[in-house]
Amino acid sequence: MGVNISYMGTKRELAPAVADVVAQAKEGVMLDAFSGMCSVGELVAPARQVWNNDAQAFSAEVARDLRLQG
Ligand SMILES: C[S@@+](CC[C@H](N)C(=O)[O-])C[C@H]1O[C@@H](n2cnc3c(N)ncnc32)[C@H](O)[C@@H]1O
Repeated sequence: MGVNISYMGTKRELAPAVADVVAQAKEGVMLDAFSGMCSVGELVAPARQVWNNDAQAFSAEVARDLRLQG
């Protein structure tokens, strides 16, 4: 994974299961609300566009950096 930072309430361990569920949803953008370190969006992004939202500026920076890497 691209961001391996210890973070409050991270869904890193659950992200593969969530990404599997999202893969079964109809095509389209996924909103990674309260995205934190983007653990879910990072796994979903190869297959669909991901939009992020988080109150923390540094979380937005993580999302931007992952986009640049993708
Ligand atoms: C439990 S963490 C998310 C962890 C993320 N799913 C991950 O796996 O890294 C909750 C996030 O919600 C954000 N948050 C809390 N209140 C918010 C609000 N009103 N609007 C947007 N983001 C908010 C926090 O900044 C925090 O990053």
